[in-house]
Amino acid sequence: MKRLAVVILAAGKGTRMKSDLPKVMHEIAGKPMLRHVIDTCAGLGPDLVVVVAGPEMPAVEAAAAPHARAYQREQRGTGHAVGCVRPAFGDQVFDEVLVVYGDTPLITAETLGRMVEERRTSDAAVVVLGMRVASPNAYGRLVLDAAGNLDAIVEAAEASPEILTLDLCNSGVMVIDGAVLFDLIARIRNDNSKGEFYLTDIVGLARADGRLARVVEAPVEELVGVNSRADLAAAEAILQQRLRAAAMAGGTTLVDPASVFLAADTVLGRDVVIQPNVVFGAGVTIGDRVQIKAFSHIEGAAIGAGAIIGPFARIRPGSMLAEDVHVGNFVELKNAQLGRGAKANHLTYLGDVTVGAGSNIGAGTITVNYDGYGKYRTEIGERAFIGSNSSLVAPVRIGDGAMTAAGSVVTRDVAADAVAIGRARQIDKPGRAAEFRAAQRAKHKK
Ligand code: UD1
Ligand code: MG
Repeated sequence: MKRLAVVILAAGKGTRMKSDLPKVMHEIAGKPMLRHVIDTCAGLGPDLVVVVAGPEMPAVEAAAAPHARAYQREQRGTGHAVGCVRPAFGDQVFDEVLVVYGDTPLITAETLGRMVEERRTSDAAVVVLGMRVASPNAYGRLVLDAAGNLDAIVEAAEASPEILTLDLCNSGVMVIDGAVLFDLIARIRNDNSKGEFYLTDIVGLARADGRLARVVEAPVEELVGVNSRADLAAAEAILQQRLRAAAMAGGTTLVDPASVFLAADTVLGRDVVIQPNVVFGAGVTIGDRVQIKAFSHIEGAAIGAGAIIGPFARIRPGSMLAEDVHVGNFVELKNAQLGRGAKANHLTYLGDVTVGAGSNIGAGTITVNYDGYGKYRTEIGERAFIGSNSSLVAPVRIGDGAMTAAGSVVTRDVAADAVAIGRARQIDKPGRAAEFRAAQRAKHKK
């Protein structure tokens, strides 16, 4: 078995993001960029993953767990950053070491797999992932020899005008022969215009040792590096396109794909239909045949087969909807568990609640779950009927088959099959409306 280590560079602060958050913690499709890269690399089944973090980056460390971490206290260049993983490697030897950047979230496991394969079959010291860029500006250029092998990587800052005309660029991703990695790193010098230890110099060093270097190419869409908020939005757009295509390929109808925003972990069943302008946050699972109508927002929820959601529904974390539940317009659910066939179709807030199978929640029902200090649960049994505009003041229980009268403020538990009426009694004053109008007409002379 060949042994593979993955090194993810994430020490950069990302100054151009103008953020208090380390760059790699910014999210695309509801997931930090660093986690995208970690999860993609996990697809290769590596024996070790090391994330190189900068000083005081607790969020990066937390996102890297349970993988190994290495620290780069001072940003002295990509070559120096890779050298910092040595303590994390200990005495382990790897056949291949894959180096990726934490701010390049769209790279695919397929591309990385091709690179590892190329390293194995060619026995190159280094395999570099190249991309063709129309206006390559600051990217390092890949210089090939007559046989098509990689001769050198020249950083833009060090390149001659002739080399700057090359359009084959260094994406930054490399697979390095683990047997020579640290030897090559140790020989990098910083006598260049930035005074940095360039990882890219290992290509020239390996060539001088008589070793081979190779290039694998991938489309530039995969290799978008995020340095600014504009780059972040561009990466989001590319990823959304991929997620929408995968959703449709998996049997979901997107009536207007461009207006549906999926999370990286959204799970969609077969024959799901999603109308325009629907947004998924992280942690959503949608069962078969669910219809999600326009302008709904769903996060942290599991929705059972055949459910009908929206339009204009908001489903928040902790919500679990069984089969055939209906949640209609202007209904908000938070930590709400709804049994099979339960319905809440209009203008309702259900928070910290269990609703039994077949229960109907009338328009305007509110679970009063918060008193400014604590949150309290409402438990509604099966086949209950909650009258319109009921306020259920938690903690409170409504038994199986019970009813609440419209407009009730329910502060005590309601027994099974009972009716609770919690409102002022109606008073009728015959003729009073006509008297009122006559008096007003006289006063206003109309
Ligand atoms: C690097 C490459 C360049 C390539 C480009 C692709 C080098 C010398 N140059 O240039 O050939 O075309 O990426 O985007 O490698 N980092 C650290 N510690 C450091 C320096 C960098 O962790 O001391 C991390 C950064 O956070 C970033 C990545 O390494 O994720 C790349 O660093 P960056 O400074 O952006 O390198 P470039 O100058 O863009
Ligand atoms: Mg860069």
